[in-house]
Amino acid sequence: MTETVPVLTIDGPSGAGKGTVSRLAATRLGWHYLDSGALYRAVGVAASWADIDLSDASALVRCTFDTVIDFAETASGDLRVLVNGVDATDELRLETTGAVASAIAAIPEVRAALKERQRAFRRPPGLVADGRDMGTVIFPDAPYKVFLTASAEERAERRYKQLKEKGVSVTIDGLLREILARDARDAQRPVAPLKPAEDAVLVDTTGLGIEEVVARVLAVVKPQG
Ligand code: DC
Repeated sequence: MTETVPVLTIDGPSGAGKGTVSRLAATRLGWHYLDSGALYRAVGVAASWADIDLSDASALVRCTFDTVIDFAETASGDLRVLVNGVDATDELRLETTGAVASAIAAIPEVRAALKERQRAFRRPPGLVADGRDMGTVIFPDAPYKVFLTASAEERAERRYKQLKEKGVSVTIDGLLREILARDARDAQRPVAPLKPAEDAVLVDTTGLGIEEVVARVLAVVKPQG
């Protein structure tokens, strides 16, 4: 009975720190981890490999069904994502891939096609699920739900630092504009828009260090767990 397996859902806009926080929370709890954004990104990568036009919804839906996505952990604990057997982890992280994923994620049939794949991650002893609609659509019965936010300015600043370390040249203003545009697209789409589940605990990470955020997120699990 998968329903008896506990799930901690961590939803929120891009750049709120969901990935890092969710992975740490999963490690500390000893639970599985679902990076649902990686599924949308993987379909985006497969679609661009196949030269599919982003306006061709039916081809994108077919591509979603056809794409084989595997998560593999390396000996050093690094999480790699294989798309149709090819390691696409680095391509998955690109801003351009995120934008394609966001466009694809607005197609209802694509979301429906990925639903069961996401639910299959619910295995004992528990799951930390990171995304936009984990608490609202994919695991509405999850006992533990968090909505992670941070101001758009802080998210742009964090992203700027990450990219600068990688030697990518961008401006904070440009990143802020992209973040606001993506937030608007994710929040305004008719299917599974980005919004907190009614029973989610809101955690604003603006000005908080990672350990403080993880502590607040784990506190949501501890009282009942
Ligand atoms: O979390 P991320 O940046 O890797 O997600 C990439 C895009 O995928 C994001 O712009 C919206 C979409 N997405 C979604 O619609 N639903 C999810 N559960 C996860 C991601």
